[in-house]
Amino acid sequence: MSENLARHFLIRDDVVFLNHGSFGACPRAVFETYQNWQLELERQPVAFLDPARGYNERMRAGRAALARELRTDPDNVVGVTNATAGLNIVARSLDLRPGDEILTTDHEYSAIEKTWAYVARRTGARVVTARVPMPLATEAQFAEAVMADLTDRTRVLFLSHITSPTALVFPIERLVAEARRRGIFSVIDGAHTPGHIPLDLDALGPDFYAGNCHKWLMAPKGSAFLYARPEMQVLLDPLVISHGWTAESKSPGAKGAFGNSPFIDELEVQGTRDPAAWLSVPAAIAFRKEHNWDAVAAYCSSLAQETAQRLAAKTGLPALSTPQFCAPQMVAMPIPACDPLELQRNLMARYNIEIPVYRWQDRTIVRLSAQGYNSRVQMDCLIEALSALLTL
Ligand SMILES: Cc1ncc(COP(=O)(O)O)c(C=O)c1O
Repeated sequence: MSENLARHFLIRDDVVFLNHGSFGACPRAVFETYQNWQLELERQPVAFLDPARGYNERMRAGRAALARELRTDPDNVVGVTNATAGLNIVARSLDLRPGDEILTTDHEYSAIEKTWAYVARRTGARVVTARVPMPLATEAQFAEAVMADLTDRTRVLFLSHITSPTALVFPIERLVAEARRRGIFSVIDGAHTPGHIPLDLDALGPDFYAGNCHKWLMAPKGSAFLYARPEMQVLLDPLVISHGWTAESKSPGAKGAFGNSPFIDELEVQGTRDPAAWLSVPAAIAFRKEHNWDAVAAYCSSLAQETAQRLAAKTGLPALSTPQFCAPQMVAMPIPACDPLELQRNLMARYNIEIPVYRWQDRTIVRLSAQGYNSRVQMDCLIEALSALLTL
């Protein structure tokens, strides 16, 4: 990189921070915007949170900027605190019955697996987990593995777009189309996608899609969205009933309590809330444009993938997929079996390297994230540390 981008971030410079994937990191300039919104809120909370005194317009500006990135209409997107909240809204709204099936894969994020397990327990529905073949090599292989578990009782298809434990980009397009054709709800977990891979939600056409802005888009923590296809919005109920709820919200052509659609007013108004993170999403998008982040991301991707290859050359362990399904800036690198927590602790204690290490199925994995503040020297550090600790 010609410019030292680390200076734009608040990450401590005594830490080799290789875990952008867990909670993201927000550039200094975006963080200042965030704090300015908080200050403005604190100076005159009543005016700031009054829909009739600019609040609606400010929230709408966030939706508009984000919807352009996601390639959909601003009316299809609502701000939520995190992807977990967005997916909970969907999972807990759908009218599932005993015997209904929720089809998913064995690569999902544990909090959302728990969400579906909870919903299944409450409704009598059943979670069916398709095993995705590893290493993943073709789109057809993925689609066929999931479709093999489709039955006439399948009501929901739930897939990650980028998986958490394995850092794979699932080729979900064909399955989303197939779900639509069969009248099955498609619910997509896009926690890692905004700012990481190109998105075109209208072209993809899922029924529901939740994503985080606080990870790869680099907005402040607590900024995420829930997308619902226009026809599906009426099916959703808020997790928290507040001023935005109206008894008529399910009637055709109903208006929301604050002049937006019921979808937006019911999900966005949740009691007293600090909207500063959401309001800073346009600043995060602008920061990325200003700093030509597509080029930065391409560099980070080559850094991540090259580091994974260097480690694989030492361990001799095969990758989890062919390169085409590897998330660009995040790679799950298999390592020889060891105590993952002890290795993670030693990486921090002895080398100041922050990186997740865990067991997944029968593998031990180190998940490397590369973002603009990382350097090749840090990747060398990681390889050196793993070589020493694992005696590679
Ligand atoms: C695939 C996936 N889904 C959901 C989440 C949850 O995101 P959040 O904690 O922001 O709700 C994560 C977090 O890392 C994730 O990796």
